[in-house]
Amino acid sequence: MRILEVKNLSIQFGGLRAVDDFNLSLGKDELVAIIGPNGAGKTTIFNMLTGIYRPTSGSIELEGESLVGLKPYQFAQRGISRTFQNIRLFSNASVIDNVKMAATMHSKDNLVSSLLRTRTMVKHERELDEKVMSLLEPLNLADKADLLAKNLPYGDQRRLELARALMTDPKILLLDEPVAGMITTEIEEMAELVVRIRKDFELSIILIEHHMNFVMPIADRVKVIDFGKTISEGTPDVVQKDPKVIEAYLGGGYQNANA
Ligand SMILES: Nc1ncnc2c1ncn2[C@@H]1O[C@H](COP(=O)(O)OP(=O)(O)OP(=O)(O)O)[C@@H](O)[C@H]1O
Ligand SMILES: [Mg+2]
Repeated sequence: MRILEVKNLSIQFGGLRAVDDFNLSLGKDELVAIIGPNGAGKTTIFNMLTGIYRPTSGSIELEGESLVGLKPYQFAQRGISRTFQNIRLFSNASVIDNVKMAATMHSKDNLVSSLLRTRTMVKHERELDEKVMSLLEPLNLADKADLLAKNLPYGDQRRLELARALMTDPKILLLDEPVAGMITTEIEEMAELVVRIRKDFELSIILIEHHMNFVMPIADRVKVIDFGKTISEGTPDVVQKDPKVIEAYLGGGYQNANA
């Protein structure tokens, strides 16, 4: 079954067609990677798939429902969640509060209900705490729940972003360069973690990365973007051997680039 159908997605910024006719049919439980040089349009695709940018043309359907024109919180409510290329955390808040806030940010009535601390609210808070801990556990962050986000090592901050993304119970998780700035052992750990959460949380995943040694072993399929256009797609094996991909991207020393 296909969970997400993206057709002819394009966006224009002034004279620049940052994404040009992007198509993706994502299967349930599938892991698709999007690769390509800096400025190719990868993050812009994620911004359209999360409602931050409205596409100039094209369609996005999640389980048959059209999402174009909805607000970012509505994309999150319907089951698309993401992490960011540059880590976005509340640095002066604790680990546990960072994850909690991910849930409240995506609901409309929460400010009011959190001002009225009713009994239901207290029960709700307890449930929220339990849920946060159930996410911190598999991400090896449970024993750091009370630390401030800014005091976490970099790898932990990346995993905290993952916990935040999982808090809204996504069906589809978008990961924008999850191993940027990591060293080899951390990259290997993150690969294992992505594979594990994909299975345990029954997620479909779209992954952007420049580290080919991270992407290729875990991706079912790879799409290669260059100047907004899809220049190649297929299994990791096929894409890596494609002369067009080698010329535009892989030949340029990008394999382990940390852009
Ligand atoms: N809001 C915007 N206004 C104008 N141009 C934009 C905007 N957002 C993105 N762009 C442009 O669109 C192009 C694609 O940018 P994008 O961030 O999607 O690239 P990317 O593939 O994610 O690159 P990287 O690998 O460096 O992260 C770039 O030329 C960028 O400058
Ligand atoms: Mg990017």
